[in-house]
Amino acid sequence: MKKNDIKALVEKMTLDEKVSLLSGKDAWSTVPIPRLGIPSINLSDGPHGLRCCQGLGWGESVPATCFPPAVLLACSFDEELAKKQGAAIGEEAQAQDVQIVLGPGNNIKRTPLGGRCFEYFSEDPVLSGHMAAGVIKGIQSKKVGTSLKHFACNSQETDRFVVNEKIGERALREIYLKSYEYPVKNAKPTTLMCAYNKINGDYCSQSKWLLSDVLRSEWGFKGFVMSDWGAVDNRAQGVYAGLELEMPGTGKENDRELKNAVTGGEVAMPAVDKRFKNKLTEKQIDKAVTRLLEVVFALHEKKTGAKCDYEKHHKTAVEVAKESMVLLKNKGALPIRGGKTAVIGEMAVKPRYQGGGSSCVNAINVTQPLEAMRQYGEVEYAEGYSLSDDSDYSRINAAAELAASCDRAVIICGLPDEYESEGFDRTHLNIPASHIKLIDEVAKRQKNTIVVLCNGAPVTMPFVDKVNAILEAYLGGEGAGEAIADLLYGKANPCGKLAETFPQRIEDTPAYGNFPGENCEVTYAEGIYVGYRWYEKRGIKPLFPFGYGLSYTDFRYDEMKLSSDKINENDKLTVTVKVTNIGKTDGKEVVQLYVRENAPRVSRPEKELKAFKKVFIKAGVSAEVTFTLDREAFTYWDEVHHCFAADSGTFTVTAGGSSDNCPLSCEVKVKAEKIFDDITIHTRFCDLDDNPKGKIFMKKLFKVTGTKLKKEFKYLPMDWPLRTLVQMYKSPLTMPQLMKIIDEANSE
Ligand code: BGC
Repeated sequence: MKKNDIKALVEKMTLDEKVSLLSGKDAWSTVPIPRLGIPSINLSDGPHGLRCCQGLGWGESVPATCFPPAVLLACSFDEELAKKQGAAIGEEAQAQDVQIVLGPGNNIKRTPLGGRCFEYFSEDPVLSGHMAAGVIKGIQSKKVGTSLKHFACNSQETDRFVVNEKIGERALREIYLKSYEYPVKNAKPTTLMCAYNKINGDYCSQSKWLLSDVLRSEWGFKGFVMSDWGAVDNRAQGVYAGLELEMPGTGKENDRELKNAVTGGEVAMPAVDKRFKNKLTEKQIDKAVTRLLEVVFALHEKKTGAKCDYEKHHKTAVEVAKESMVLLKNKGALPIRGGKTAVIGEMAVKPRYQGGGSSCVNAINVTQPLEAMRQYGEVEYAEGYSLSDDSDYSRINAAAELAASCDRAVIICGLPDEYESEGFDRTHLNIPASHIKLIDEVAKRQKNTIVVLCNGAPVTMPFVDKVNAILEAYLGGEGAGEAIADLLYGKANPCGKLAETFPQRIEDTPAYGNFPGENCEVTYAEGIYVGYRWYEKRGIKPLFPFGYGLSYTDFRYDEMKLSSDKINENDKLTVTVKVTNIGKTDGKEVVQLYVRENAPRVSRPEKELKAFKKVFIKAGVSAEVTFTLDREAFTYWDEVHHCFAADSGTFTVTAGGSSDNCPLSCEVKVKAEKIFDDITIHTRFCDLDDNPKGKIFMKKLFKVTGTKLKKEFKYLPMDWPLRTLVQMYKSPLTMPQLMKIIDEANSE
């Protein structure tokens, strides 16, 4: 429907009809108005598969393909692969008559303890932003909408409905909002879902700054914003701020609030934003209705005959898992070649492949690691531990005995469901003690022990030196079993890289001591130093660093070339990196490009990821990988001028296969455009130097004071403020004169 037709439609609507549209019909669809031919559209969770609950009982959903959750997908470092997964989810949405998939989730992982870490991509905003963009483009390529969530800073589950996240402007812009900025601008999600929490005192669901100033005015978002389920506080203030759709519908309650805000009736909820007086104009309601209807009419048509190939989607789920699982350690144990393998751990037959909560998909075809491994070699199985009872150590002996009788042991273990889920945060990073004990006992009896971890977020690994190999399988979706088997037996070559840092201990993590806060308030004291930015700045050695992951082959970083060693802030810089596969196996490498400012004026990270590319390189062959960096690679958020800015200086561009191993680097001088402030009596002498207003000021100053001051000026300390010109002993200048000169310099 054209814009003008929607305008005409809105003109025909009564106020009651308009406000009714601004909240859901129920939990999963929008309100239709048959009189005017306005259809209803259906919404369904996401993000890593369809959880379509329409018309079903509590906790039930239609069977769907369970793809790897974001925590694993991110380790592929492959936006195109994310797009492929998204497109498959889009097809399943079409087949179920779903118009908007509630995802992807794109919050930054502030701490590994966050309960929903498995639903989010990374601790790094560039990686997060690109992976989210891939998923959005994929889903939307099937003419199905998305809802990028949870905007913003849903970093914890503790008190998630009310918690106030106190975050500095720089951390917000450089880290937490940055992960949204790229997908909003480049993938254009049809909708966003606001978070439950407050940011610096304002609920996201009614923050004009967040939903209108940043999202629409600065980033150009054109769709509509819906609330997270139950995130609305003052509904009328929400509309004022830019929240179009309340979900789920509250029916008459908030319809009345909205209507009263327009007609001057009583609005029950107190307004929090001082500018908002609990009054709305009908024009404001019209704007919200229009934004909503634009999406509804763009998406509503049922895709008749939409079918999807679930078998093909299962294969995609396996492919994504294989491309993403991370080989953390390998002392020659992998890939498995011949002999008999003891497969140990209940997760080998009851795999943990997704997390709990609203994202939990009713998976169609879950494969067992044990069954999948049986296809490739001789295996024997022992339970090793009990998933239903952590304190049960009775199965360890039999498992260790089996291990001793085989050529190797593969222990599949990690975090059981009860250890992490939407709805609560973890309080520690441990896997169950019975799993640790099992690994110890097996490793004592079998030198060749391999651990496969299934978990949604980093765990500590007291066993790291006792075993020969560790495969981080994370939560692998319904095809996790096949992916694990393919990687262990070398049918596929591992190529995933960690999208987050694995700390040695919880005390080392950035938010330690400031999480989950007190009295429903949490301070992001670590500022911009999140993830590897923190560990590198503090010189803390992690267990495994961001970007790290092994392969069955080796890559050599040969050469880096820059298009220029001197650029202006707005120029583009081309970086070419040559990488050679020096092993005997074909493989994929994630080439990571980081940038560091050598002598920054403001505190900056040791380095920051600015670009990455995954490339397939045949054994013995070299590849050239090209990146283009623009202004964004050099800027930081300037808290004085409230914008992204760069300082002139030398920057180091480094490349490598892990954040802790970047063998190539080149320097580039960047000339930045300086932002000149007005001069005041507190401006320091040194600030006048290259400021054009400064030059005018000096000229005018000496005109008034004559040559005496000109001579003395050379000897004055350069960090003194201008007011000292008047306060000097026997100064030839008066305060009114100084003020006048300043005014004149500023206004020229
Ligand atoms: C979750 C959202 C989800 C919604 C609908 C909320 O509790 O935070 O991620 O999309 O429920 O299930």
